[in-house]
Amino acid sequence: MNWSNRPAWLFPVIASIACVIIAVAAFLYAGGQRGTAAPGVRESGQALIGGPFELVAHTGETVTEADFEGRPMLIYFGFTYCPDVCPMSLQVMAQALNELPADQRAEFQPLLISLDPERDTPEALAAYVETPVFPEGLLGLTGSPEQIAAAARAYRVYYARAEADASMAEYLIDHSSLIYLMDRQGRFVEVFPHATAPERIAQSLQRFLQEDGA
Ligand code: NI
Repeated sequence: MNWSNRPAWLFPVIASIACVIIAVAAFLYAGGQRGTAAPGVRESGQALIGGPFELVAHTGETVTEADFEGRPMLIYFGFTYCPDVCPMSLQVMAQALNELPADQRAEFQPLLISLDPERDTPEALAAYVETPVFPEGLLGLTGSPEQIAAAARAYRVYYARAEADASMAEYLIDHSSLIYLMDRQGRFVEVFPHATAPERIAQSLQRFLQEDGA
């Protein structure tokens, strides 16, 4: 194209398209920033992650965040039918806790919150949390779809049922895979992607206990 002969409307049109592309890119970037926190991101001030929840423990009891007051929580959202990522993440959580001396380890309440209320009954969770490589004292939490959705929303957890193809007898759930450290008042401290080295998580847990004055 000869630019000296360009029609008068061409530049505004190109500029508008560029603006739309930039706006979409900025939107996606901001979304990505929210969705995937960097390893060991620490926040202070207003809590953006976490909040009240009401769920059903694998023991059958209804529990809320108030039941864990006074204990820092390590929370993972997943589901028992998960073939790989969830078991691996819970194993990482266990390895991190096992790096700590027993008295420090006992401070933390490990929690698995199910994203699959349909299949993860309290009974199913009760069997699952006994997996030997999972954290000692792991408490499984499930609930109604609404209770699960509310908890996931509070922790900004993404999850969606993945359509099973013909080769799979069971459906899967796509979900974000993060380990949350919450303080004794249930406030957000730090989040670890599931591939974080257990030693690295253990260091953060010890630092938390030191700063916490425990
Ligand atoms: Ni999973």
